[in-house]
Amino acid sequence: MKKKLRSAGWFGKDDKMGFVHRSWLRNQGYPDDYFRGKPVIGICNTWSELTPCNGHLRDFAEVVKRGVIEAGGFPLEFPVTSLGETIMRPTTMLFRNLASMDTEESIRANPIDGVVLLTGCDKTTPSTLMGACSVDLPTIVVPGGPMLNGRFKGECLGSGSFNWMVKEKLLVENYTEADILEAEIGAARSQGHCMTMGTASTMACMVEALGLTLPGAAAIPAVDSRKKVMAQLSGRRIVEMVKEDMKLSKILTRKAFENSIIVNAAVGGSTNFIIHLLAIAGRLGIELKLEDFDTIGSKIPLLVNLKPSGKYLMEDFYYAGGLPVVIKELKKYLHNDVITVNGKTIGDNNNNPVCYNKDVIAPISEPLQDNAGIAVLKGNLCKDGAVIKPSAATSSLMKHKGRAVVFETMEDYHHRIDDPALDIDETCVIVLKGVGPVGYPGMPEVGNVDLPLKLLQKGIKDMIRISDGRMSGTAAGTVILHVSPESSIGGVLALVKDGDMIELDVEKRKLHLDITDEELEKRQAAWKKPEPMATRGYVKFYIDHVQQAHLGADLDILQGGSGDEVTRDLH
Ligand code: FES
Repeated sequence: MKKKLRSAGWFGKDDKMGFVHRSWLRNQGYPDDYFRGKPVIGICNTWSELTPCNGHLRDFAEVVKRGVIEAGGFPLEFPVTSLGETIMRPTTMLFRNLASMDTEESIRANPIDGVVLLTGCDKTTPSTLMGACSVDLPTIVVPGGPMLNGRFKGECLGSGSFNWMVKEKLLVENYTEADILEAEIGAARSQGHCMTMGTASTMACMVEALGLTLPGAAAIPAVDSRKKVMAQLSGRRIVEMVKEDMKLSKILTRKAFENSIIVNAAVGGSTNFIIHLLAIAGRLGIELKLEDFDTIGSKIPLLVNLKPSGKYLMEDFYYAGGLPVVIKELKKYLHNDVITVNGKTIGDNNNNPVCYNKDVIAPISEPLQDNAGIAVLKGNLCKDGAVIKPSAATSSLMKHKGRAVVFETMEDYHHRIDDPALDIDETCVIVLKGVGPVGYPGMPEVGNVDLPLKLLQKGIKDMIRISDGRMSGTAAGTVILHVSPESSIGGVLALVKDGDMIELDVEKRKLHLDITDEELEKRQAAWKKPEPMATRGYVKFYIDHVQQAHLGADLDILQGGSGDEVTRDLH
């Protein structure tokens, strides 16, 4: 028997409320048959002029609508909180969970049968997907696509990568202000999100690997006409998904999550992938642990040669064949039988793609690097774990013991890092505290702090840096992130002092603070909890409920889902 549409609970009623639900919507000029059994498709739009990477999604929604209408659906676009990485303060991560709540409640409260998520900038993919998972309707993702390659001085320039080098370029390489301005303009020369394998591109690859997009969607540049074709076809497909009752939970199985971990390792994806995937899994009740990223992903070879660790950019990745080529190459590692939004398996979808540039996507027989996935570290400094991305790190630093140079806060770091009197050399370990989920609050992307000027001037390019914060997916270096528990709730990171020796051994997955247990206990007893960073409003709520990084930094009360049922009616 055909399943009754969810939207019929609004539009299918013959009573007073049916009149109310239909009548007011008619003011937008919809014919009567739109209310008589057409699947209603909610187009969840993260468009905002304050989110530059998503600035084109208003047009895209119209293209999706075309597809929905062609397939016999009734499209209704709605806005949700948009998170612009480069503009919001103190950090978009503080608002990821808020945006997910907005998405969840907007979907559930409205007469929606199926959902299209229009996403782009880093947090707009995980936030909307987390919210959609807690409702669990048929859902398809249309990633907004990367910008065209940046250009500067005749070379390709990765947006989100050059900015990490501005200090070095100005102060060490004698770039002029005019040079920097030229780079600023050339780095973002079309609509779309960052075109490195930063977090936005990582998230686009993540949703494609999870089976939530039509095949090949992730890499198509935002301004390529084929992106619009993809959007229109996604609009058509979601209507069929509603008819097939193909809910998110039917696609997002444990196997699909494992696939996305494998693909993320091969593309050299951002460390932010971990925190977002953990949070998404948490909404579906799928058991996924921090250690899984290491167990499943760390032995996977690196195939994609993209900045920040490699040479090319997303436009090149698309022309080389995009993610379908990577998925085909990874066949022997993947669960090829998992179903995707188009009703076919990931194996069937990616059977025959051709690689047009082996310098951009290496074959599995000649990978760019073995064992490229993220390594999860353990030790007294990070009881619940910390992460490092070996493909972005310096191999000579992967086993190192160095003297700690400690910064208690981000402000302390800025105040002292370039002080010529700072007692630091390239063998030291920079320790940054107070940048975790509770402490900052919101766990900003500051883990890859700049090196001291005096070391940059000596030609030093990398040092070990440890923090409870995150790192932008566009950045690189020997950076240990997501230390859990964080310093602001009394993790051992809080107890590190200048001059302590810290040992890193990535092969052994070890991060150790070299002090005696007695000394550790003494410091623990003397530790005082810092004052909370907010006493009211959403930020207070966030601080009270946010979980640690190894759990995905979701709010505890948002774990799991409530389904699509609305428990009380509008009276
Ligand atoms: Fe939006 Fe990089 S700033 S994707």
